[in-house]
Amino acid sequence: MIKSDGFKKVNIAVFISGTGTNLKNLIKFSLKKKSNFKINLIISSNSKAKGLNYAIKYGIKKKVINYVDISFSEKKILKELRNYKINIICLAGFMKILSKNFIKKFKGKIINIHPSLLPKYKGLNTYQRAIDNKDKYSGCTVHYVNVKLDSGKIILQKKVRIFKKDTAQILAKRILKQEHLLYPRALKKILTNP
Ligand code: GRF
Repeated sequence: MIKSDGFKKVNIAVFISGTGTNLKNLIKFSLKKKSNFKINLIISSNSKAKGLNYAIKYGIKKKVINYVDISFSEKKILKELRNYKINIICLAGFMKILSKNFIKKFKGKIINIHPSLLPKYKGLNTYQRAIDNKDKYSGCTVHYVNVKLDSGKIILQKKVRIFKKDTAQILAKRILKQEHLLYPRALKKILTNP
């Protein structure tokens, strides 16, 4: 695993497809004096992703990958990752599934944030599924990415209460707040204590 030696910052690429609030939050955290990582590259599968504005705002290199041809797109991504000497990939609302080949190349170096208490509710629509099942808690999970969807080793989780009146939208908002706390903590954890 990649470990920060306390002097040299670890280079991170964040992959997004949409709003990018987790991206924004990771950038802010990376700018703190004591942070042991730096965000060098933002990859987006969507040219209209709001999150791309943070690349401009914070002066971070961005690359939009159109994903028409997966293998070609991943080759382009790998080239960028090499160019920017990326050590760790953080998926943050990235709506494309990485190929097995790609994941194997970056084994143990890709992490993701998912809005449920994994292994419960892998995939999409996690909020409504938790509400429909009358669960008392949902939450969020940061985990390593392996070749099975949302199934890699869990790094950190945070429970979030579900209330009777919750809609998926309300619950999503409450969970997102916790995601913003959890993702930097999880990253710090794997960089200091893999
Ligand atoms: C988050 O809910 C995250 O858990 C999921 O996608 C959403 C991304 O939100 N993987 P944002 O783009 O970071 O605002």
